[in-house]
Amino acid sequence: MATIVATITETLRYRGKIGQWSWVLHRASGLGVVIFLILHVVDTSWAAFYPELYAKAIAAYQSPLFTVGEFGLVAAVVYHAINGVRIVILDWRPKLWHLQQRAALAVFGIVGLILVPTFALMFDHVLHFYDRDPEVMPVNEVLQEQLQFALGFIVIVVVAVGLSLLVALLSGESLSTRKQRLRRASSVDVWFWKFMRISGILILPLVFGHLAMVHIIQGVFDMTVAGAPIVGTDMVNESGKAVEFVGKRWDYLVAGVAVWRLYDGALLGLVVLHGFYGLYLIANDYIHNKVINRAANWMIVFGAGALIILGSAALLAGVEETAYAMLIETIAAR
Ligand code: HEM
Ligand code: HEM
Repeated sequence: MATIVATITETLRYRGKIGQWSWVLHRASGLGVVIFLILHVVDTSWAAFYPELYAKAIAAYQSPLFTVGEFGLVAAVVYHAINGVRIVILDWRPKLWHLQQRAALAVFGIVGLILVPTFALMFDHVLHFYDRDPEVMPVNEVLQEQLQFALGFIVIVVVAVGLSLLVALLSGESLSTRKQRLRRASSVDVWFWKFMRISGILILPLVFGHLAMVHIIQGVFDMTVAGAPIVGTDMVNESGKAVEFVGKRWDYLVAGVAVWRLYDGALLGLVVLHGFYGLYLIANDYIHNKVINRAANWMIVFGAGALIILGSAALLAGVEETAYAMLIETIAAR
């Protein structure tokens, strides 16, 4: 217990003195992956609720702009995960603290070793995709698709800040900037400190397994190949539509258990709680204005709740088989 409290206090005080770059990269990669996760859970839910929108989202994923982003995302996840393991080991064994610098360097080495073959395999999928002479979504359409997320985010920020301001005005609260004080860690901080480490270790095989399936073994480019086998199942994507890929994975049973729904459910819960608590740590480090700080915290709490509800609703609803057929008809009718 004393070690945990000491570590939190020392980390807060000396943040980044050793391995400054590791700390910055850990934070930046975690933040990048959370932003991707928000878009990803929303667009995966379209497979269940708006199949036609899901087809567009996957077409955007297959565009060159997203391909560059996909390589960046994989690099961010791998760096954050390996560096996360370093943090967990060193926090657990304070006797090893004198090895901080070497451990931070070792992380870069391990990440490089993982990324070189991973990128080679991912690049191979990209080449095969372009060999098939595909219809690629133009960049302006990709950007327009993303604009809806940016507008949605702006509306949420305006509403949250507006409500927080209203609370301040009604309660006669001063609008001054809060002074940051170094406070003692509460039992809630300690609980979450442990949770971040335990959830990080639990997420690791889940995220790496997910990425292996959707980047290396099959890849996002092969989700739309008619007649291709569907990774992690004994089924085939007959229509070549991404909704069929998702629907069949979610419906695949092993001994009567929908294994990929369970897997995605565990990934969803852990990754959203871990990522949003991380977001809370970052937001509260930088946002000191009372009104904006409260609005940010509301957005984080409600955002995490909304994502878990939306993602679970999609997992429970699944993809209607008629959706594949309807989608084929809609596209053929154009
Ligand atoms: C470009 C990269 C990615 C692609 C193409 C991708 C693809 C998919 C697909 C096809 C599904 C549908 C279900 C399934 O087939 O299992 C899915 C679900 C999911 N993915 Fe990913 N994934 C990517 C990266 C990630 C990352 C980095 C994370 C974690 C941070 C993640 C977390 C999830 C979660 C939580 C679900 C379940 C969503 C729900 O319950 O509605 N994915 N992903
Ligand atoms: C794959 C395995 C992962 C491991 C081993 C891991 C580990 C960690 C650890 C140990 C921390 C430090 C917590 C602290 O300082 O109290 C952390 C922070 C964080 N993680 Fe992860 N994590 C993983 C995956 C993820 C994913 C998928 C996301 C995004 C959805 C994410 C987002 C964050 C964020 C935003 C922070 C806060 C960073 C900061 O305060 O500077 N992590 N992670």
